[in-house]
Amino acid sequence: MPRTAYVNGRYVPHGDAHVHIEDRGFQFADGVYEVVSVVDGVFADEDGHLARLSRSLNELDLPWPMHPMSLRFVMREVARRNRVRNGLLYVQITRGEAPRDFRFPVDPAPTLVVTCRATKFNAPQHLEKGVSVITIPDIRWARRDIKSVALLPQVLGKQQAAEAGAFEAWQVDPDGTVTEGCSSNAWIVTQAGVLVTRAASNRILNGITRLSLLAEAEAAGIPFEERAFTVEEAYAAREALISSASTFCIPVTRIDGRPVGDGMPGPLGRRLRQAYLAHVGVADPVAARS
Ligand code: PDD
Repeated sequence: MPRTAYVNGRYVPHGDAHVHIEDRGFQFADGVYEVVSVVDGVFADEDGHLARLSRSLNELDLPWPMHPMSLRFVMREVARRNRVRNGLLYVQITRGEAPRDFRFPVDPAPTLVVTCRATKFNAPQHLEKGVSVITIPDIRWARRDIKSVALLPQVLGKQQAAEAGAFEAWQVDPDGTVTEGCSSNAWIVTQAGVLVTRAASNRILNGITRLSLLAEAEAAGIPFEERAFTVEEAYAAREALISSASTFCIPVTRIDGRPVGDGMPGPLGRRLRQAYLAHVGVADPVAARS
């Protein structure tokens, strides 16, 4: 089926979807984005993603390209036109097209792009066996809380992970603490059964899935701590997890080649994933197919 994209007010065939060569997203990575999963036609945590988009825009002094309610409509229309009931929706807003100059254009007309594609989410073996991560130095800037399209460190990290046969790379600050994955938040379960993930700050992106998982943990009475943890603590953990819009929550069973706990997915991770999917109001798209 031919794909359709939304670009600056028009629904266009994917192959004809273009922005200008002097778009500031292209030249300066002067833009922000969101990824929202679509599960059985439901936009998972849509309110949270739009709230974070609003915050990212605000932090960079970028104007909304349209009213947020209109954006919700466009998101649905793009999913509908692409007949996506299960997939990922991508929204990108840049400071628009202007002659190359570092300073903001005087009268910016932001660029808005929305795309949607069907995905299979995680492979069943990710749930059955877990995934592996490697650890790498965090070489990013100091405003990781903004979901900016400047993703080169994450591109390099993910490539390094892929070359090492790993699913994700956990980035590590100079003090030896894990910040987060290249496109996911990082979690461990200590030997005492406490769920730990780094507190929200400028050092990490405050994942929308992360926030929902914390709310679910609280509601379920699961003990948790929002604090930094070291790589050594992660090696010694009982369970480890990653969370993101595209994975929800999947078990990590190897860190730098070492097995986490007994090397198999653990019960707390499984429980959290089920709680998250119940919160979204859908069945597990991976379990349903496996
Ligand atoms: N990435 N940390 C980073 C650096 C991320 O890029 C992401 C998401 C997350 C998790 O955030 P959320 O739960 O809101 O998806 C954490 C998306 C999925 C991506 O870039 O594809």
